[in-house]
Amino acid sequence: MPDLASPEVEVWQFIESTAHTVLQRYGLKEVRTPIVERLETFVRAVGDSTDIVQKEMYAFKRGDTTLALRPEGTAGVLRYVAGAGPGAADARVYYMGPMFRAERMQKGRYRQFSQLGVEIIGAANPLADVEVMDLQRSLLEAWGVKDAVFEINTRGMPEDMEAVRLGLREQLEPRSDQLCEDCQRRLEANILRVLDCKRETCRVVIQSLPPMTDFMSEESRAYLEAVETGLEHLSIPFMRNPLLVRGLDYYVNTVWEITSSALGAQNAVAGGGRYRMDVGDRLIDGVGFAIGLNRVGMILTEQDPGLMERLQSPVASLVGLGDEAFNHNLLLAQKLRNAGIPCIMALEPKGMKAQMKRANRNGSAFAVIRGETELAGGICQVKEMETGEQVEVPLDDLVDFLRKGMKLNG
Ligand code: HAM
Repeated sequence: MPDLASPEVEVWQFIESTAHTVLQRYGLKEVRTPIVERLETFVRAVGDSTDIVQKEMYAFKRGDTTLALRPEGTAGVLRYVAGAGPGAADARVYYMGPMFRAERMQKGRYRQFSQLGVEIIGAANPLADVEVMDLQRSLLEAWGVKDAVFEINTRGMPEDMEAVRLGLREQLEPRSDQLCEDCQRRLEANILRVLDCKRETCRVVIQSLPPMTDFMSEESRAYLEAVETGLEHLSIPFMRNPLLVRGLDYYVNTVWEITSSALGAQNAVAGGGRYRMDVGDRLIDGVGFAIGLNRVGMILTEQDPGLMERLQSPVASLVGLGDEAFNHNLLLAQKLRNAGIPCIMALEPKGMKAQMKRANRNGSAFAVIRGETELAGGICQVKEMETGEQVEVPLDDLVDFLRKGMKLNG
């Protein structure tokens, strides 16, 4: 469970603020559900036999109730939608925040991580699936994630899922001795997950299976084709991956994942799909996705190593020579900040050299230097830190001068 601090945290702030803007363009409203919920809420939604429920939940007892830290967002959001009455039948919501899974640590895999998720409630309609994938594309584009690839597949309409399980069982049971112990258990408990196994021996068996769509009705296949046509219509690049099933039980129909080559073994930056979720007294249909924000941060800093420094650096450091200059600088700092220019000022009357060193260390683009002469003349010396070039700027022109500099420095 990592601490997040500067300079990493500025990347998170950039990711989050950009996301709010994009999500609102798609007419979504934010929902903030609790981080702790009753354990059953997750077990019922995510599925008894999934890795998340079997191995990864942080659960604890309080009185007679067992609670758990949320391992994902969809279950809680649908619990909220179900309780929010008929007005929520076509809810379009998003959420951002920490999720918890007791997984083995690895690059890009944490026990506390953050997701941005979207849920669009409503009956199955390929257009809705395409719309949320387009939203995901917009988010990734707005952040500047470059090499994301959509992999898509279908688990079949709810009515077909039994036939899919049976079809797979007929194929896999005769070869069960070639499968690992986990997969032998999955044959009984959750046969679709066999397709997810990464073991070499299991991969050989899995690769030789007919595609799952062979066990489905024409309607299920047509639904996937309609989604693919929609993606082509919006010029969203995708690949069909006939082995993609996703690790949560609530999915039906379309499922997808977005991978990035910048991530290494844990290469999924996002996952989503259509679902039918049991919320206790009824079933709710919807489609949604979650993007792993830690992984988006990793991709952005890998693609652009200077990003963290640029995002966290103040534009200007105010350097004062003599006691009088410090008082004046406090006022100047207020003026610049009110004008939207990030700046910091030295608070102790250290010498010029020490203050310039500090300005260098904190990554300021400019040092604004004032001593007695500058104060008397209503001017300042502005030094561009990278080039070392120094110019005299009238105080009244400083805001405009720094604004121009902000643009040039990205
Ligand atoms: P998920 O595939 O389990 O889906 O998680 C979505 C994303 O969260 C992953 O692609 C990954 O980027 C990130 N993630 C998951 N586990 C970790 C971890 N241990 N460390 C870092 N990042 C992680 C869901 O959670 C579904 N609720 C998505 C959804 C919403 N489907 C429909 N609506």
